[in-house]
Amino acid sequence: MSEPKRYLVTSALPYANGPLHIGHIGGAYLNADIYVRYLRMKGKDVAFICGSDEHGAAITLRAKKEGKTPREIVDYYHELMKKAFADFGISFDEYHRTSSDEHREMSQEVFKKLEAQGSFEVETSQQYYDEEAKQFLADRYITGTCPNCSSDKAYGDQCEKCGRSLSPLELIDPKSTLSGSKPVLKETSHWYLPMAHHESWIRDYIGKGEYQDKPHHDPKEWKAHVVGQCMSWVDGGLQSRAMTRDLEWGVPVPVAGADGKVLYVWLDAPIGYITNTKVWAEKNGKNWEDYWKSDESRLIHFIGKDNIVFHCIIFPIILKEHGGFILPYNVPANEFMNLEGDKISTSRNWAVWLHEYLEDFKGRQDEMRYVLCSIMPEQKDSEFTWTDFRDRVNNELADILGNYVNRVFVLMHKYYSGTVPEISGTPTEAEQAAATEARRAYEAVGKAIEQFKFREALAEAMNIARAGNKLLTETEPWKLMKTDPQATARILYACLNMVADAAAALSPFLPFTSGKIADALQINPRTWDEVIQREQISSGHTIGQLPILFEKITDETVAAQVEKLAQRQAENTATIEPIKDTIDFETFQKLDLRIVKVLAAEAVPKTKKLLKLTIDTGVDKRTVVSGIAEHYTPEDVIGKHVLFLANLAPRAIKGVESAGMILMAENPQGQLSILSTEREATTGSTVK
Ligand code: MF3
Ligand code: ZN
Repeated sequence: MSEPKRYLVTSALPYANGPLHIGHIGGAYLNADIYVRYLRMKGKDVAFICGSDEHGAAITLRAKKEGKTPREIVDYYHELMKKAFADFGISFDEYHRTSSDEHREMSQEVFKKLEAQGSFEVETSQQYYDEEAKQFLADRYITGTCPNCSSDKAYGDQCEKCGRSLSPLELIDPKSTLSGSKPVLKETSHWYLPMAHHESWIRDYIGKGEYQDKPHHDPKEWKAHVVGQCMSWVDGGLQSRAMTRDLEWGVPVPVAGADGKVLYVWLDAPIGYITNTKVWAEKNGKNWEDYWKSDESRLIHFIGKDNIVFHCIIFPIILKEHGGFILPYNVPANEFMNLEGDKISTSRNWAVWLHEYLEDFKGRQDEMRYVLCSIMPEQKDSEFTWTDFRDRVNNELADILGNYVNRVFVLMHKYYSGTVPEISGTPTEAEQAAATEARRAYEAVGKAIEQFKFREALAEAMNIARAGNKLLTETEPWKLMKTDPQATARILYACLNMVADAAAALSPFLPFTSGKIADALQINPRTWDEVIQREQISSGHTIGQLPILFEKITDETVAAQVEKLAQRQAENTATIEPIKDTIDFETFQKLDLRIVKVLAAEAVPKTKKLLKLTIDTGVDKRTVVSGIAEHYTPEDVIGKHVLFLANLAPRAIKGVESAGMILMAENPQGQLSILSTEREATTGSTVK
């Protein structure tokens, strides 16, 4: 394939319904950022486009859960995500939003064109409708009993217990999650994309890398798992898919008679790439159509594996039907990243949140960038653990890179007061070997990035520092200085240039650190190819002071992060107790339950949990011992009315006779709560 004139690089638009976590970053953002930073260093014309995905059930469900409007949710998370990306050094050219006016116009224009030319088929069907909420129910708005495993928590599209994918009509006893009422079936019409019509050219596009009977891309350059997933979809038969929904939140369907209908979120969101390119172009004196409508442009989508079919099949169909647009040149989707042995999950709060990391590890973006790139799930799922994070930062970043750069600076200042010496004489074998290895590694970095092999690329960039370290260790300039100052000057001159080269090679990965090194070297950025062509630093140049590049990660830091996760897991695994065996009514009637008043309370000596209470049952006064001292002080309970079991056989607790039992509610986390009456309590009231 010939060299393109420009690149259009996108990262999946994240839903604005929750904060970003490291799995997102390692999936579709850090890799794209490294790629784009590299292309910029190559002097390429590139637009790096992203933004928030602000429509769909992901947003409205979150809004309902938090008791907010969808608008409030997306406004909040859009800003939070935008800032976290920027702080982490993800260098989008544009981060816009799909709830914008520009996007409504763009996505409606696309829909109208397709609708007018007959690309859709309108079909009428029966769908569930909530008569109380006056709304059709999207899949996630219906729960019911799974026909497969009988779990009563199945959703309209899937049962999370047994994993079976469902249609709402299959659910037994369907219930609306909006009102809790039983939904009714009601007729509604939608615009469907008849994907089966597109099967043949999609096969050519994915399988052969051909589009409109011409070579389009080299299919061997696509990741095998991406091609595999697409082909199995196509082989399974492409089903028509509704491109509209009965919802209030979204882009209104722009044709007459479509009141209350919006575009399907997976139709509008990818069009967001186009909108956001246009927004960027207009701000920067560019023409967005150069990027989207020229065969000389190359479109690359960075996404996670759950987004593959949308980017490789559905969106290309939309682009082709509309006409004039280029198709994705490559979709280097990543697999998933797990965390400490478990799937990352927003709903279970099992995640390392990016904004929290940035808060806990101020100024240490590159440490996380380094680790996430090192374990990027390029070919299969991978796993992040805090001990591995510590080891990689300490043993690789600090010990290899930080240590190398620091040694060179120290020696340069010590022997030459920071001014690069004149050099002479013939380089030894060790010097030549180091130079050759550094150059090989540098070229390998670029090649690997171009093939979307970011782990390998990073390892090669680190090899430049490794080669420098090796040269220092082999030649020991700190000893050599006494006997051979000529060779020492040559070696340190070479080492200093290898510092500059390592900083250049690492700058797509570690932009903050590379910036610090370049500042300390007092040099300007070179283009990628200039690094190979010319040495940056020559005799007479003066370098500055190097700041500390990497602080070691301590065991306490690791422990604190692990503890944070453990706490969340404790909150998550707290389970609701199952219902006990049935009892008959007579058994229940044997319980003497009543409301009693606490007259006095004191701690039971030498115990942590127990209070000794004097209570008034209305019939008599008694002493009881209650295990509530960790939850209530004596002052908290004196004078309170509480629920009491009065006919429990007396027993001695820590030497105190207890006649009856105060009843408490205990939540799944083990917290106790006194039960009181809703109306003003009367001592001695019975409970039935
Ligand atoms: N919001 C989607 C997700 O998080 C991704 C949308 S990508 C786009 O899975 F192409 F639709 F923009
Ligand atoms: Zn099930």
